[in-house]
Amino acid sequence: MPIPVPVSERKNRQTTNALFSENKLKLGLFGPNCDHGCAMTLSDDVPLLTWDYTKQVAQIADRAGFEALVPVARWKQIGENGFNGRNFETYTWAAGLASVTDHITLVTTAHVQASHPAVAAKQVATLDHISGGRICLNIVNGWFEPEFKMLGSDFLPHDRRYQYTTEWFELVQRFWTEDQEFDFHGEFFQVEGGYSQPKPIQSPIPAIMNAGGSKTGREFIAKYADSGYVLLAGYDLASARALVEERAGDAEAAGREVSTWTTAYVIQRDTHEEAQEYLNKVFVDEADMSAGAAAAHYLGLNSSAMEPQQWQEFNLHLRAGYGGYPLVGTAEDIAERLNELSEIGVTGVSLSFVDFVDGLERFNADVLPKLEAGGLRKPFPLGV
Ligand SMILES: Cc1cc2nc3c(=O)[nH]c(=O)nc-3n(C[C@H](O)[C@H](O)[C@H](O)COP(=O)(O)O)c2cc1C
Repeated sequence: MPIPVPVSERKNRQTTNALFSENKLKLGLFGPNCDHGCAMTLSDDVPLLTWDYTKQVAQIADRAGFEALVPVARWKQIGENGFNGRNFETYTWAAGLASVTDHITLVTTAHVQASHPAVAAKQVATLDHISGGRICLNIVNGWFEPEFKMLGSDFLPHDRRYQYTTEWFELVQRFWTEDQEFDFHGEFFQVEGGYSQPKPIQSPIPAIMNAGGSKTGREFIAKYADSGYVLLAGYDLASARALVEERAGDAEAAGREVSTWTTAYVIQRDTHEEAQEYLNKVFVDEADMSAGAAAAHYLGLNSSAMEPQQWQEFNLHLRAGYGGYPLVGTAEDIAERLNELSEIGVTGVSLSFVDFVDGLERFNADVLPKLEAGGLRKPFPLGV
């Protein structure tokens, strides 16, 4: 017999999940569950990833009113110097942080080939109960082939991977929403007597994120995600605006509301020159070139489509922030760049820093007040 879901448990996700807050420009952190986060460098300035460190980072962001903690699901180091090799698994990491934060949304990342939809659906539902409806599921179908080999799953061709992901997610939704037992006969999954209780807190379903950049990825975002990512490093504002507008067009054609986020790396100093010098020191002189080369290789990026100068610049952004948008300069510069991103239609930016604690302290002291003064964000705790 199906167990009825107590009505009082379900809540409109707009009221529980900060991703739906009214702040015009939402803020997240990208990669704080991984050693070195998004920073491909050998610099000693990067602290070792420990539970205390990631907890401290999460709590600083939570208390400053940030909307999202976005982890990276990683199973193996990239390159030969250990980049991201040490990391916290994203569901259990989110569970731990849900208990020591109050406001921020914990994103958990499903590498779809690593868990059955029944398991993922229940993990997210459990996280939703722990966090009081503050979970978002980032659906990732993977690009780092050595991880597939380690997990013993087939590295399907790119678009075929999205077919697998689509079926995977259709099934997750059935586990989240159906009270009667169901059977499912798909191309990749066979389920008899599908059943999952309790249902998530968030109604109709927990927030969904996807960061695909390909045509197929964009189609997936338009059809299923509440937020999608577009990478803007290396683009001038006019081209970036066109990319963001393209995403808005995708969503409109699908008849859905999808917010567009991007990622950015922050180097904030008192002068522009100091910030630039630090960027060069950490990501040129002390760069982890092996991580950068391996990431470019497995992401299928190569110099063939770019001018040498453009390729060099792109690689710098890859090493400094996994391909994030550069926010390098003074607090004024950074606030101005964020304002520009908002003006071209970006709804949220997930930030990374060489050291998240040091970086957040600078950012919260000097950039956040400028964003508030400019009307991009309301002072916290009134912001939700
Ligand atoms: C914000 C963000 C988070 C991502 N998280 C992960 C991750 O945790 N694990 C992973 O393997 N790939 C991750 N990716 C890679 C994307 O899921 C995607 O595979 C990549 O952008 C290539 O797009 P495509 O799949 O459409 O080709 C992330 C990308 C972005 C921008």
